[in-house]
Amino acid sequence: MKFFIDTANLKDIAEAQALGILDGVTTNPSLMAKEGITGKNNILKHYVDICNLVDGDVSAEVNALDFEGMIKEGEELADLHEQIVVKLPMTKEGIKACKYFSDREIKTNVTLIFSAGQALLAAKAGATYCSPFLGRLDDVSTDGLNLIDEIRQIYDNYGFETQILAASVRHTMHVVNCAKIGADVMTGPLSSIMGLLKHPLTDIGIAQFVADYEKGNK
Ligand code: E4P
Repeated sequence: MKFFIDTANLKDIAEAQALGILDGVTTNPSLMAKEGITGKNNILKHYVDICNLVDGDVSAEVNALDFEGMIKEGEELADLHEQIVVKLPMTKEGIKACKYFSDREIKTNVTLIFSAGQALLAAKAGATYCSPFLGRLDDVSTDGLNLIDEIRQIYDNYGFETQILAASVRHTMHVVNCAKIGADVMTGPLSSIMGLLKHPLTDIGIAQFVADYEKGNK
């Protein structure tokens, strides 16, 4: 299972990278704005800064909603750095653009997926990644994990190579449950990754081992 971090915060990205388990980064216009990164040139530069911090795929989202605009923006993003994955919205135009880029071997991530039918279309269009938003489904009393499970079954039925990128992950149990279902990738905030480290029995065990070791050195 690949671990992506879902942020535009360079400090958080560097911290996850330093742990040695980071496989990539996802961003979106809201995450960029949260870091105060606005304006086309600043956003493009920030994508390059992120690529230079990590080894894996970095999803960069188009803002255009029409096909021609998505192609123009996507090509500009893809030219920025070899690690860039063009992130496209789950719309009719987005699916057409996904097919255009996959035919040209440019990696894509179809985002804002909330149903198995949408995930099926993304796979048919040759998406590298499809991003079901599980946290946002949970937010509206709908089982987000169930959607990941349905997509896994459909992709396995037909051997689709599109990777399920479980997005809108909010906490550690989302990560663990996505791993149980077989999501190929999860993307979440730094806290959802670092939280996996924690267990009180580990802390108690370490304190006990340190105390016992020190006894022998007195
Ligand atoms: C995915 O690519 C999105 O950036 C993200 O996971 C959305 O998460 P949120 O629902 O917590 O905003």
